[in-house]
Amino acid sequence: MPTLLIRGGRVVDPSQGIDRIDDVLVRDGHVVAVGHAGTQPVGRVDETIDATGLVVTPGLVDMHVHLREPGREEDETIETGTRAALAGGFTSVACIPNTEPPIDSQAAVEFIHQKAARADTCNVFVVACASRGREGKELAEIGQLVEAGAVAFSDDGAPVYDAELMRRVFEYCRMFDKPFLAHEEVLELTAGGVMHEGLVSLVLGLKGMPAAGEEVMIGRDIALAEVTGGRLHVMHVSTAGGVALIRAAKARGIRVTAEACPHHFTLTDESLRGFDSNFKMSPPLRTAADVEAIIAGLVDGTIACIATDHAPHALEKKMLELDRAPFGILGLETAVGLAVTRLVEPGRIGWPRLVAAMSTLPAEILGINRGTLRPGAVADITLIDPLLSWRVDPRAFASKSSNSPFHGWTLQGRAVATIVAGRVKYRLQEPAVA
Ligand code: DOR
Repeated sequence: MPTLLIRGGRVVDPSQGIDRIDDVLVRDGHVVAVGHAGTQPVGRVDETIDATGLVVTPGLVDMHVHLREPGREEDETIETGTRAALAGGFTSVACIPNTEPPIDSQAAVEFIHQKAARADTCNVFVVACASRGREGKELAEIGQLVEAGAVAFSDDGAPVYDAELMRRVFEYCRMFDKPFLAHEEVLELTAGGVMHEGLVSLVLGLKGMPAAGEEVMIGRDIALAEVTGGRLHVMHVSTAGGVALIRAAKARGIRVTAEACPHHFTLTDESLRGFDSNFKMSPPLRTAADVEAIIAGLVDGTIACIATDHAPHALEKKMLELDRAPFGILGLETAVGLAVTRLVEPGRIGWPRLVAAMSTLPAEILGINRGTLRPGAVADITLIDPLLSWRVDPRAFASKSSNSPFHGWTLQGRAVATIVAGRVKYRLQEPAVA
């Protein structure tokens, strides 16, 4: 394998407390060292990348990605979804099991691993179903799924509704030290809803999904995590009340982590005024106060990670009227731009916190041995141009779908090279057009 030298970038690696201009040397797919090449013997170098002006980070990790395969290949495949990940700067994704059939068997986990190996793109880690068939009735074969390589468990798209089953999921996951990734929703409160319940839904005459529909379930799961000692990871938290519950639970020492999606720290329910289904997702876009609370949660660490909930849906499905169109939007190819534009540029968080939220911490929660540039680590590395201004055009995305609400937006910050195990898997080709 070739030796790669990444020269002169701003290396940001929160796992080692590094934030300085430096070089990164990679050999045989692993990091040799972060250190100035001029002062150390580096031996033969096959390729040098000039990273002047770029931020060099441990490869980004998205712990919430719907790759849709098997069963929904019209929306996305493992090949197209992982290419979208690379284009977004992600070297690892965790794929969510609400596929058809759901990923609830060793064979299904192996299928994903095989397809991912064939795609030869980024790393794919498998989140397996918490309940058999994702039906919420019986526990999935947690032990067997762990043996097959599942890194976490979730029935995402839906909550685990039965509280007793939820308790057992926590107990079993705890035995294997795996997190449960929770989609928090009380279905009686959200039934028929298409957007956040509030003034805007009232004005538009659309059925709403109240904040309590999320918060009540977060409260239940915190209580069950407490009694079982299980690890709760709250997915796509979207309300101020949810952030407050998580903050209080963490303060009490309960094992809870959380993620926020870029759309939930960027957009509000006002966006629904155009009745565009590209603004429809679950949980829905909330109010400006909720957006502010999500950002505050990211700033103080209550919300550990940024995850995209990349949810591709083919055009003909999203073209349906708002109440019939499916929930979900693309995320992989706009995440870095939104995070830099919304969080770093305005000074809400610095680069080390951003890299922790998009690499180190999701890797730690999933226990996947990534998210670091320590000597000997697998050389998954992302190069980001922090100043590159670019216009979002979903037609140019690597994803098979184009359901992004950010079409036409100008964002700052973009991955320009994505390196997986020492091999450059993606390089930005197009010139900036913004
Ligand atoms: O908006 C969403 N889309 N939320 C979910 O929980 C599921 C996802 C999907 O699978 O499309």
